Amino acid sequence: MDEIAAAADVLRNGGLVAFPTETVYGLGADATNAQALHRLYAVKGRPADHPVIVHVARAAQLDDLARDVPEMARVLARACWPGPLTLVVARRPGVVDDAATGGRDTVGVRVPNHPVALALLDAFGGPVAAPSANRFGKVSPTTAAHVRADLDADVEMILDGGPCAVGVESTIVDVTGEEPVILRVGGVSEARLAQLAGAPLARRTDGEIAAPGTLPSHYAPEARVELVTATDLDVRAAALRATGARVVVLDAPTDPEEYARVLYARLREADAQHCDVVLAIVPADDRSIAAAVGDRLRRAAAR
Ligand code: TXA
Ligand code: MG
Repeated sequence: MDEIAAAADVLRNGGLVAFPTETVYGLGADATNAQALHRLYAVKGRPADHPVIVHVARAAQLDDLARDVPEMARVLARACWPGPLTLVVARRPGVVDDAATGGRDTVGVRVPNHPVALALLDAFGGPVAAPSANRFGKVSPTTAAHVRADLDADVEMILDGGPCAVGVESTIVDVTGEEPVILRVGGVSEARLAQLAGAPLARRTDGEIAAPGTLPSHYAPEARVELVTATDLDVRAAALRATGARVVVLDAPTDPEEYARVLYARLREADAQHCDVVLAIVPADDRSIAAAVGDRLRRAAAR
């Protein structure tokens, strides 16, 4: 039996499979199996009221999971799937288990753009709940080695699909209201969404806890993260080092897509060096994927 078929069997038997997506590695469980979901939450160390994103192989499956799918959801899905967009829609009762949605009447759905993820979802057939394959509150994994380092003995299988091409999580858009609202910035830029929706989308990523996973404590390495501008970097690094602090300066590619791709790996490398402070430059541009890089860095720094 090939690896994908074996992984689909693991899911059918209520087990956990870590798999690559274009954003980050996900930790997958059968989204209709309460027991599998309880195990998923236990392994992640995630509070039970935090909903997880449900992954499917095809956009047409949105109608299996959702009721009253608005036209806006179809427009965004058609343009962005497979891809780094999660749509929060009204949930069709009795399909995805309550444990996957934190008891809410909505569900977050996404079709990932990675051949291994799509092959697994296709072989399994049903919806797969998959948060990022890291322990709760820690840096998301963008390679199979990251997953192994975090979860190895706790999962039945880790599928290796190489490093993730996007590197930050999907953009989450809630389409259950009058207007679509961005709950988490991510792989699909706000500029692209505005173009598709015909107007800029509202953002509700702070303050009101729209997506419970978007807490400030997320995405944090062990070291303290401090944000600087490129201009202040050298002075700040020298000042910290003068106090005896072990400082790692996060190498920040000027290309925002490249920065997103390497961000989590760089944070993990900084941790591996057992430093006290990670100095990171926040990209200025806030319309491209740089917005997601800035968002994750601010959350890491806010820990
Ligand atoms: O790129 C991604 O989205 C990755 C890959 C694996 O697909 N997944 C991911 O999942 O980042 P996770 O569980 O780490 O983050 C899920 C986020 C959380 O902030 C959660 O609160 C939000 O999605 N979410 C899920 N379902 C929701 C819902 N029904 N309403 C509001 N927020 C929801
Ligand atoms: Mg996560």
